[in-house]
Amino acid sequence: MSIALPEAPSFGAPVNQHPCPELLSFLATRRSASAVTLAEPAPGDDDVAALIRLAARAPDHGKLAPWRFIVLRGEDKAAYAARLEALAQSRGDARAAAKLAKLKLPPMGIAVVSAPRAHEVPEWEQVLSAGAVCTGLLYGAQALGYGANWITDWYAYDDQAKAILGLSAGENVAGFIFIGTAKEPPMERERPDSVALTTVWKP
Ligand SMILES: Cc1cc2nc3c(=O)[nH]c(=O)nc-3n(C[C@H](O)[C@H](O)[C@H](O)COP(=O)(O)O)c2cc1C
Repeated sequence: MSIALPEAPSFGAPVNQHPCPELLSFLATRRSASAVTLAEPAPGDDDVAALIRLAARAPDHGKLAPWRFIVLRGEDKAAYAARLEALAQSRGDARAAAKLAKLKLPPMGIAVVSAPRAHEVPEWEQVLSAGAVCTGLLYGAQALGYGANWITDWYAYDDQAKAILGLSAGENVAGFIFIGTAKEPPMERERPDSVALTTVWKP
């Protein structure tokens, strides 16, 4: 499937809000697929660009766009995984090497990099915006009919692994969104009791 996105509203144009029952139905039932079940077909370049365009509409205090995207696909993704595998093996860390299956098996992924700016908007809010971008990418890919999963794992946090990905000082991986076609449908997981998590403030 490919996306035929409407034009983005032009700057300053009134943006009409309207009910969207299909979106509500999607939100009520969407589910992430295990990364190791993801196979081809995966979104092509046009769909990836569209997904990123949608994700970049995330709420963003100060309009700082304190995040960026790194697309991982094809032979380049395999080379990235091989370098991480060599790093894990050089440390004799078989567990870390095994965890790379979630990176190696899906046909593609998009790293969302949190890149907070020095600004009066607190860094916390800039990092939250990166999380919102991850959610937008995940939901966008799922709405397109693909399986997708938000993964971090050790290579999101390890300094040498971050350097292999090309991160600068102060940047962090908010998430790898792996996307493909799920070989088996995900089963519903336990969900939190939203009522138990909610109180109404009273003076
Ligand atoms: C920031 C973040 C990092 C995650 N990292 C991992 C991970 O490294 N490995 C993993 O198996 N799941 C990880 N998960 C959880 C998966 O995304 C999980 O499949 C997801 O929570 C399923 O929820 P859903 O079906 O409601 O989308 C992570 C989730 C978040 C929000």
